[in-house]
Amino acid sequence: MTIRYATIGTSWITREFIGGAALAGGLQLAAVYSRNEESGAAFAAGLGGVPVYTDLEKLAASGIDAVYIASPNSLHYPQSRFFLERGIHVLCEKPAALDPAQLLDLQNLAASKKLVCVEALMFLYSPTRFILGEAIERAGKITSARLDFSQYSSRYSALKNGEKPNVFSNKMGGGCLMDLGMYCVCPMLSYFGEPEGIFCSVSRFDADTDLAFSAVFTYPFGDVAVTCSKAGQSRLGSEFIGEGGTVCVESLSLLGNIRFINASGVSEQLVPMPERRLVLSYEAREFRDFMIAPERTRQRLKEVCEASLGVAMYLEKMRSLAGIKLG
Ligand SMILES: NC(=O)c1ccc[n+]([C@@H]2O[C@H](COP(=O)([O-])OP(=O)(O)OC[C@H]3O[C@@H](n4cnc5c(N)ncnc54)[C@H](OP(=O)(O)O)[C@@H]3O)[C@@H](O)[C@H]2O)c1
Repeated sequence: MTIRYATIGTSWITREFIGGAALAGGLQLAAVYSRNEESGAAFAAGLGGVPVYTDLEKLAASGIDAVYIASPNSLHYPQSRFFLERGIHVLCEKPAALDPAQLLDLQNLAASKKLVCVEALMFLYSPTRFILGEAIERAGKITSARLDFSQYSSRYSALKNGEKPNVFSNKMGGGCLMDLGMYCVCPMLSYFGEPEGIFCSVSRFDADTDLAFSAVFTYPFGDVAVTCSKAGQSRLGSEFIGEGGTVCVESLSLLGNIRFINASGVSEQLVPMPERRLVLSYEAREFRDFMIAPERTRQRLKEVCEASLGVAMYLEKMRSLAGIKLG
């Protein structure tokens, strides 16, 4: 069975996803959407004559089974709802909604219509998360962890030049916390469960734009420190520090370049840096399986939805602590 899917958004991540979906198999690109004909045609060039739609209603009526949404964050909820209401499965880029209430509404709507609505957060689908989990176990009693996602944004210079790119606009659901926070919070919740306490503080570019943030999550075993920035590049990555060793992760989004360094300092590479398309193929593959084998994947779909909801809840708590307002 082949799933006919369409894409929303014409930036590089959509192109990468199309590559990932091709690797996954069983997913046929049936249409692309752009707000305007020209950018849609430019994006579709080289994609095998796939039709371009500039009207979401016409796209929804074109016979597609599913949609991959990679529009600015504030559009994720209304666009996902729009397609679910029309009987179309949704894979939506992170964050799949602006807050947990929106996300729960989408998940309930999908369930009531026997549809799939999941978030394209790579960690949730990457098999490498198990290797990282085993390495953390191997590190023995964890005493602290330092999770970082600091990536110099290609749009930062536009912000400094007085523009407001979507990714930095709180009106569009952007900002550092909404763009990057999930990359640290998702693995933290996955490996350590719910924290006992949270502190969170942001650095702002201006009153409406968070550029970087730090958070400390307290656990019975110690603290997990989370740092993210869009104005500078981390060169050290993240560390899970245990009594018996340290696990270093260069990229928490791709789960790439994972090393175990034992208590004597001997380093072993467990996972190299993967191609993004390969990692995207894992989420595409599971999205496909959720659609074509709902019985077999019911429990797994529930886990993915709960994990997304947990992340959305913590991002909301962090926004509240840091005084970040969206919209
Ligand atoms: N998983 C990952 O690794 C990853 C990486 C990057 C981004 N993302 C996620 O992907 C999503 C898109 O990010 P991006 O950086 O590509 O965003 P973006 O460039 O600001 O916008 C994405 C697309 O949405 C359309 N768009 C732009 N502004 C719009 C507006 N004001 N109203 C309606 N549509 C608009 C544009 O397509 P048209 O002009 O053709 O309509 C554009 O190509 C975000 O949710 C982001 O978090 C994920």
